[in-house]
Amino acid sequence: MKIVELDLPKPVKDFLKAEGYSELYPPQEDSVSAGLLDGKSVLVSAPTASGKTLIATLAMLSFLSKNKGKVVYLSPLRALAAEKFSEFKKIEKIPLGKKIKTQISTGDFESVDKTLDKSDILVLTNEKMDSLIRHGAEWVDDIGLVVADEVHLIGDQDRGPTLEMILTKLKLLQSKPQIVALSATITNADEISEWLDCSLVENDWRPVPLAEGVYDGGGVTMHDGKFFEVEPTIRGPPVDLGAESVKDGGQSLLFAETRTRSASLAAKAADIISRYLKKSEKEELEDVSKKILGANEHTQLVKTLAELVKKGVAFHHAGLNQNCRETIETEFRKGTIKLLSSTPTLAAGVNLPARRVVISNIARYNAKVGANRPISVLEYKQLCGRAGRPQYDDHGEAIIVGHSNSSELIDYYVNGEPEPIESKITDDKSLRIHVLSTIVTTPGIKKEEIIDLFLETLGGLQSRKSTIKFAVDIALRYLLDEDFLIKKGDRYVATEFGKKVSKLYIDPLTATFFRNAIENVSKERKHTFGFLHLVSESEEFFPKFSLRNKDYETVSLLIENHASELIEPISEYDCSRSLIALQSWITESSEVSLSDNLKIESGDMHRMVETADWLVYCIRELAKQLERADLLDELDIIRKRIKYGIREELIELVKIKGIGRIRARKLFKHGIKNLDDLSSIPVKKLAEIDKIGSTLADNIKSQLRKGR
Ligand SMILES: Nc1ncnc2c1ncn2[C@@H]1O[C@H](COP(=O)(O)OP(=O)(O)OP(=O)(O)O)[C@@H](O)[C@H]1O
Ligand SMILES: [Mg+2]
Repeated sequence: MKIVELDLPKPVKDFLKAEGYSELYPPQEDSVSAGLLDGKSVLVSAPTASGKTLIATLAMLSFLSKNKGKVVYLSPLRALAAEKFSEFKKIEKIPLGKKIKTQISTGDFESVDKTLDKSDILVLTNEKMDSLIRHGAEWVDDIGLVVADEVHLIGDQDRGPTLEMILTKLKLLQSKPQIVALSATITNADEISEWLDCSLVENDWRPVPLAEGVYDGGGVTMHDGKFFEVEPTIRGPPVDLGAESVKDGGQSLLFAETRTRSASLAAKAADIISRYLKKSEKEELEDVSKKILGANEHTQLVKTLAELVKKGVAFHHAGLNQNCRETIETEFRKGTIKLLSSTPTLAAGVNLPARRVVISNIARYNAKVGANRPISVLEYKQLCGRAGRPQYDDHGEAIIVGHSNSSELIDYYVNGEPEPIESKITDDKSLRIHVLSTIVTTPGIKKEEIIDLFLETLGGLQSRKSTIKFAVDIALRYLLDEDFLIKKGDRYVATEFGKKVSKLYIDPLTATFFRNAIENVSKERKHTFGFLHLVSESEEFFPKFSLRNKDYETVSLLIENHASELIEPISEYDCSRSLIALQSWITESSEVSLSDNLKIESGDMHRMVETADWLVYCIRELAKQLERADLLDELDIIRKRIKYGIREELIELVKIKGIGRIRARKLFKHGIKNLDDLSSIPVKKLAEIDKIGSTLADNIKSQLRKGR
């Protein structure tokens, strides 16, 4: 079917044409036949790269040209949300007779951004949507179209229940929004579509053929039985396979099971890949390398990355900070970086120019089990699916590196069916959280009504009614016992504490832990280290790093020095490396020293800062609720120290834009300790201070003048 034949206004069709679309792909055509453009709900289960995003775009365009309400696009990942946001932003240019505004919101769970109300297309993470529902954002009732991307994530132990719950609530809205759920191929798609009350569009067509195979003992057997040899070198099979594709003019993506492996594969590939580079490419890569060094502290990790990039290879994992990761993604997309070795974080839904994907190990470390476990077929298909994306390549290959078990791997993964999606909603934690948030948003709800709501979830369809009842009962009992709820007759109402906790977006169990601690804090002393300890011990804190043998001495000393600040008891055996990192961060340890001494990388530290800031904020809000106003000042100071990574004495200086932890410390060393000192120093002298310079000095002075 051609785009021009679609029942869409002309400007929309012109826009699609200008974007390079002329014919629909088969899954897109099936979706249109299922009523996508007439407001019908659909669940699309189709292979990677089969154009599911355009299905979402078509639904949005049709909806916006006919209706008033809002469109919400939900993504499980921030990176994916950002990629889609830049695509949907283009819709603003179409002359639809009204101005369309697109907005993205993926962080900060505590506030409701007022401007969201004014936008037509909202790009949100699943968690952000959940939080907005909990805050009772009024426009939720105006949602006319919901696109849920990567909906197979419902089966995820940790994050699945949130997505399941928001979809349940959205489908029950009075306004009955159109639901467009997009998923990788799944086996129980019929069950999911029944649950969502959607038409099912199933299609196994892929625009670019993807050949899958397994490497074993010197050669690769593809799924169609074809065999080819790979000349072995000391670099090892994953690199040999990746390099071969680069030699043929493609780009390769290697998936590694750990960060260390991802870096070591890139290192092994560097020399061979650099031989395939043209002079102009090498020059371009030199610039990229300089850019990385210019924008980041020179930790060993950053230096290694910058060195490798010069040779056309890179690694990508969560230890790298946002800046490095974005540079690497951009350069790989541009084709300057030829071989990228990554942990699986790069897998879901993104478009990358990898002609060949190599899965260097089918096992992955599972923190819950504490050992390596084979990945699921669904995950495997996601990794493979990064190869052969239509805007980049006309064929793709995905190869697993096996260990003398190639026929098993072909049977299990290549020819295997992805696992069915199973709801995890009846898990204790998710029920605690979602029963509370339901009562907060529906005060006076009865137990039967709560059970009815949970029977509307996928879990309700997949499990027995008695299981749901039992699980809801346990959650209600816990929430009543811990004063999150009160019962009036047979109706449930949240206490002020319960309301606050639900909006703060933390597990009630964590809130109980925080509350008990707050009630134990004495009024007299400071408790900075104690609060950091609480935060690092909470379920929500992330990432958590355990102690290594060599850390025990540091830890004993730290605990001894800060014993008076503790709120909960701690011994060196149950302390975490994350806690030492946080304490080092707020006493101005550099990224280099965190990396050298604690093996905590900049990407890790940033995420710890983000979660710790949010959790200290939660403690602050709970302290306010519990009438402990005496703690608020200290908690505010801790938040600032975490945000900026500074000692208390620098708090005033970092108020100025352009002054962070490093510059503030330089100023302080020059005797400039507060804003008055900054005002009185002549601009010329200020400019002479290391890391300041005349532009910033002028800017500082102008900020100070405005502030008066
Ligand atoms: N009708 C079409 N004609 C030409 N190109 C198309 C068409 N539909 C989609 N594409 C292109 O195909 C690619 C498919 O990417 P998309 O991100 O939509 O895949 P997907 O199905 O969401 O895959 P994944 O499961 O990996 O997320 C995009 O680059 C898109 O521009
Ligand atoms: Mg997609």
